[in-house]
Amino acid sequence: MGFYRNRILPRLIHCAMRQDDLKAYRGRVVAAAAGRVLEVGIGSGLNMPFYGGGVTEVIGLDPSAQLLAMAQRAIRPKLPIEFIEGSAEAIPLETASVDAVLTTWTLCSIPDAVRALREMRRVLKIGGVLLFAEHGRAPEMGVRWWQDRLTPIWKRLGGGCHLNRPIGDLIASAGFRVERLENSYVRGPRPLTYMYEGSARPR
Ligand SMILES: C[S@@+](CC[C@H](N)C(=O)[O-])C[C@H]1O[C@@H](n2cnc3c(N)ncnc32)[C@H](O)[C@@H]1O
Repeated sequence: MGFYRNRILPRLIHCAMRQDDLKAYRGRVVAAAAGRVLEVGIGSGLNMPFYGGGVTEVIGLDPSAQLLAMAQRAIRPKLPIEFIEGSAEAIPLETASVDAVLTTWTLCSIPDAVRALREMRRVLKIGGVLLFAEHGRAPEMGVRWWQDRLTPIWKRLGGGCHLNRPIGDLIASAGFRVERLENSYVRGPRPLTYMYEGSARPR
């Protein structure tokens, strides 16, 4: 499993995540970021070309050394960028130290997503914002049925990815007030493609 996780999976993640349909989400979510930004689960760095505007610094956190190495080789904005190998469940940053936390298609994969969200809340400054684009639990019973049945095998192949997480509810349960939430499907099999995009602030 080590060879798959360390050599194959990072490449699969990079190929799956660079699909064109996701770029509009990346553009909108990253455009809302400003100041010192923590990107949780930065992966292979596919959001980096979208940073600019009022962003002064990016901190990219990810537990995968292989994905972080790919992010370091990705197109880089002209900004200070720090890469940290670590988990969102124990963010190695001071309390109230970032203006925005950004996460794209990562809450599905973090083993304890609520703990990670509480950590994101901790590191946000007063007035800071959580920006997200994620996939998760669909509203239709038939799609949910498939999401629940596929998740046990899918997460083994997909680096811990759950298809059936209720992203809006998880964010709210970790002490955030969701201020914008838009749901949509992108192209592809419905159990995999129900999107949650928006922003939230610590309550
Ligand atoms: C589907 S990929 C998305 C990558 C990237 N955010 C993107 O938009 O292309 C899921 C990411 O979550 C990261 N991840 C998994 N567990 C994590 C954890 N405990 N803390 C932070 N990131 C985690 C993975 O290493 C991977 O980079």
